[in-house]
Amino acid sequence: MSSDRTFYVTTPIYYVNDVPHIGHAYTTIAADVLALYHRMAGDRVLFCTGTDEHGQKIQATAQAKGMTAQELADRTVENFRRLWEVLHITHDDFIRTTEPRHERVVQAIFQKLIDQGDIYKGTYEGLYCVPCETYVPESQMGEGHTCPDCRRPLQPMTEESYFFRISRYQEALLKFYEENPDAIQPRSRYNEVVSFIRSGLNDQSVSRTTLKWGIPVPGDERHVIYVWFDALINYLTVCGYPDDEERMAAFWPAVHHLVGKDIIRFHCVVWPAMLLALGLTPPRKVFAHGWWTVEGEKMSKSKGNVVDPFEMVDLYGVDAFRYFLLREVAFGNDGDFSELAMVQRINSDLANDLGNLLNRTLQMVERFQGGRVLGATEKEPLDEEILAAAEATRRTYDEAMGEFAFDEALKALWTLIGKGNKYIDTTMPWKLGKEGRSDRLAAVLSTLCTVLRLAALLVSPVMPATARTMWRQLGLEGTPEEAGFAAADSPFPAGIIVAKGDVLFPRIDIEAWKEARAAREIAKSFDPDPGEHEEEISIDDFRKVELRVARIVAAEPVPKADKLFRIDVDLGYERRTIVSGIREYYKAEDLVGKTIIVVCNLKPAKLRGVESRGMLLAAESCRDDSLALLTLDGAMALGSRIH
Ligand code: MSP
Repeated sequence: MSSDRTFYVTTPIYYVNDVPHIGHAYTTIAADVLALYHRMAGDRVLFCTGTDEHGQKIQATAQAKGMTAQELADRTVENFRRLWEVLHITHDDFIRTTEPRHERVVQAIFQKLIDQGDIYKGTYEGLYCVPCETYVPESQMGEGHTCPDCRRPLQPMTEESYFFRISRYQEALLKFYEENPDAIQPRSRYNEVVSFIRSGLNDQSVSRTTLKWGIPVPGDERHVIYVWFDALINYLTVCGYPDDEERMAAFWPAVHHLVGKDIIRFHCVVWPAMLLALGLTPPRKVFAHGWWTVEGEKMSKSKGNVVDPFEMVDLYGVDAFRYFLLREVAFGNDGDFSELAMVQRINSDLANDLGNLLNRTLQMVERFQGGRVLGATEKEPLDEEILAAAEATRRTYDEAMGEFAFDEALKALWTLIGKGNKYIDTTMPWKLGKEGRSDRLAAVLSTLCTVLRLAALLVSPVMPATARTMWRQLGLEGTPEEAGFAAADSPFPAGIIVAKGDVLFPRIDIEAWKEARAAREIAKSFDPDPGEHEEEISIDDFRKVELRVARIVAAEPVPKADKLFRIDVDLGYERRTIVSGIREYYKAEDLVGKTIIVVCNLKPAKLRGVESRGMLLAAESCRDDSLALLTLDGAMALGSRIH
């Protein structure tokens, strides 16, 4: 049996038909924080992530891109690996379901379940879309039994399939959940799953003959194993099942699956039933987190609002991004991602609260004590008070981390940081310095360093790089990760020389940020993926776009923005200014006089101080990086509408 001192945490393994987005980043960062937290607490940790590479979806995407499924997987997996590097993820293993070590385990499990009668051969009946090669469940069908994707009529189909006898485990599952009410969190999800199981479980089809891209059923190669059956087993493969008995004994069932709310049934019904069938205990915890919307809207490729984690790290830094995702919303709730909200948190929580506490303290240690932290001989109740608050914070933080309540853990820590800043305001060390009360000053600064050292330790799982910088500036040896939480047990050692460095988080000027952001939006509108097709729109949607004929009357570069032109256009009934990102493609003098097409009813935006009212239309080559403005085939009065 695994002990309390081992901790195994997983992320879902991600499909390789998509680029990594904020949803993937979110779960993986949360898992990383738990792994780092437990390592610092002295636990033995196993933290795994990976990619889910088989199945219809991957095969179809590969086909559409003109490559094999394996080529697609090989290519996409690199995006995930790169992202985990950029996000400083410290996983112990990265599994790909196409690896032989995994295929072996899946086949062995499949065979074992066949042998013991938990998997049997039967027939699957359903409505099938032939062009899309997929069964469509009744709940997703279009009008008149049509395919929701291609809208063609569905055909009744009967197919041979292997089934997992999940019905056999219904009672055992209910019993397990009754005895382990914390095994599914949040609580609302627990209730949802239990009532679903109570409503009755039907045996699950676990093989397909309609596609080739999967792990073959042992001894019956016409079938491939259903992708979810294959994917869930990754959690056992990385844990060494069935051969590595030591690893299994250490980490099973101390496994904590972090998943999005959409995949909870697979993790809380199918997966534990599979484990029960194998004679294994179901996972200690499945935690279902919520979904991110973006500025209030569902994230989707066609809306073009998919948050690119690479870009966020590039713009704001990895630690600020990690902090924001975990601080902004309670894990388990849905949340809304807004860059402005992130910038505001950087300014208030990181630059102002945390950064200032460190900076003010170290500045005074340097100014009044030549950079040396001294022993605290002249203590006052105020000092005891804040040290007691620090101890209490540590407990609240531990409890919150134990419940995966990252936001609560951070809130508690930031309350302490706030108290630290207030303590400076109250004790006024600069006054003590000027008055020559050096013993009292030494006590105050030493107390502050004790609080800051704890802050560095508690910040570390969420913002490891920042914590390391704090540690170094505090003059401490090694890193917070190496030191572990136990380092907070003793008072800050006297005699240490601090090393104040750059500020942790420079403040972001909101006005400048808004302009830079608008410029980014424009630049992006010139950079669509040529292979991408948009969602269908109605004629009414199209009518909303007010397109008119205009003539360029002036064009000049926007200072300090090498991609932007300030372009004045004549619409017949008025003149207006448009800022456009086409400077790489045109010379100003070649633009003047051109008759072009303008989107007139675009919301105005301020770019580098220039208000832009509208947008020019241009074609961007899908072959190379050329670009051409749209013009008219004949003379036309300025301001004419385009339909
Ligand atoms: N391959 C399966 C998982 C198999 S695990 C044995 C899969 N992959 S996925 O790539 O489609 O999704 C992975 C995770 O991303 C899911 O947990 C899903 O909830 C999460 N998210 C997708 N969009 C999301 C948001 N907008 N916000 C937060 N998480 C989101 O499912």
